[in-house]
Amino acid sequence: MMKRKVLLLGATGSIGKQSLDIFKKYVDSFELTSCSGFNNKEALKEILHTFPSIGTVYCSFEVLSYLKNDYPKVQFYSEKDGLESFLNHCDFDLMVNALVGFIGLKPTLYAIEHDKELALANKESIVVGGELINSLLLKHPSAHLYPIDSEHVAITKCFMGRKKEDVESLILTASGGPFRDLTRDELKNVTLQEALKHPSWSMGAKITIDSATMVNKGFEIIEAHYLFNFPEDKIKVLLHDESYIHSLIEMKDGSFVADIGPHDMRIPISFALFNLNYERTPVPRLALDTIGSLHFRKLDEARYPALNLARFALKEKGSLPCVLNAANEAANLAFRENKLPFNKIEEVIENVMNSHRIIDHPTYEDLCYVHKISLEATQEYIKGAK
Ligand SMILES: NC(=O)c1ccc[n+]([C@@H]2O[C@H](COP(=O)([O-])OP(=O)(O)OC[C@H]3O[C@@H](n4cnc5c(N)ncnc54)[C@H](OP(=O)(O)O)[C@@H]3O)[C@@H](O)[C@H]2O)c1
Repeated sequence: MMKRKVLLLGATGSIGKQSLDIFKKYVDSFELTSCSGFNNKEALKEILHTFPSIGTVYCSFEVLSYLKNDYPKVQFYSEKDGLESFLNHCDFDLMVNALVGFIGLKPTLYAIEHDKELALANKESIVVGGELINSLLLKHPSAHLYPIDSEHVAITKCFMGRKKEDVESLILTASGGPFRDLTRDELKNVTLQEALKHPSWSMGAKITIDSATMVNKGFEIIEAHYLFNFPEDKIKVLLHDESYIHSLIEMKDGSFVADIGPHDMRIPISFALFNLNYERTPVPRLALDTIGSLHFRKLDEARYPALNLARFALKEKGSLPCVLNAANEAANLAFRENKLPFNKIEEVIENVMNSHRIIDHPTYEDLCYVHKISLEATQEYIKGAK
């Protein structure tokens, strides 16, 4: 494969750092020409030191001021210039979008509009702009979107060599998060530290809380709908304690196809970076004979109201998934800042969703507006609820 120029967004985060591991291993396949971080100045400094090929950087203005004298050859951009201005100055074939939250939507659309390859970890892009993204992909057949989420990479692998009409349903596995053995009532007093202890994966703070509430699994249902064009009622969720089975497809003859492997994001990241090809990764092998047993449980939908909220948003479509995402961003942050108890997160999201008047087929500008007013409505609701 030709050496591709890469723009890595969110380089200082969990997915960003694991992508860098792959770039370090495959210096003949990738040239990191541009990247973004935001507040983590030491991590960004280290990246600039390790990858002298980087010529264009986006970060917070404070970090820019800290770094720019040490790297006179690098062009720096910050929130004062805007993300789009930075994107316009990047030279890349492949964008890895590992930003967290709504902010990731603009670069996702940008990559497709400019006929680039896009390895997409930022699932919020698809949740918020699924319709927009799919219609843009139709208009730009030379753009390619490769998901980085482990479940969706697993399903992509399961589909390979199979006919879509032979597949009856998609089954997303879920660990159930750190509180899977607690009742709803027992969720009242859980702490941030407890919520940040995911049983299988080590991830950024926001997605770890989203996994504890199952908002993350709800997002993945929406993501699966748009990526694989499957109806909502054919996308199921199965609790699987060990997180070794990353997802499954159920065939019409009653058999299942599953993707099994270590829970290490460098495997799905590598599959996306290599355009859906298997390559060697720096991940320690999983010795199946040491696992002993695997466990599966039925998901109690009443225990996790976030799943129903996501299913509802997907059925209604239009701007409602954007409201779901914005309300969740604000409620998730409020919990992390000790302004909202854990067990109130879904209630807040539901109330903000209920008070929204849906805009059908929203444009990017509509989505920015809905995101802004929904963040504000959520913050107001949280203040009033205290
Ligand atoms: N982590 C996982 O295992 C995993 C698995 C599947 C999907 N995903 C998805 O991948 C995405 C990234 O997740 P993550 O866990 O890697 O998140 P993370 O560790 O929190 O990293 C987020 C990145 O975004 C940057 N960032 C934050 N606010 C920004 C802003 N306002 N402007 C520009 N950049 C900003 C951060 O920079 P600083 O840190 O420098 O401030 C950091 O580089 C999310 O959409 C998540 O749902 C993650």
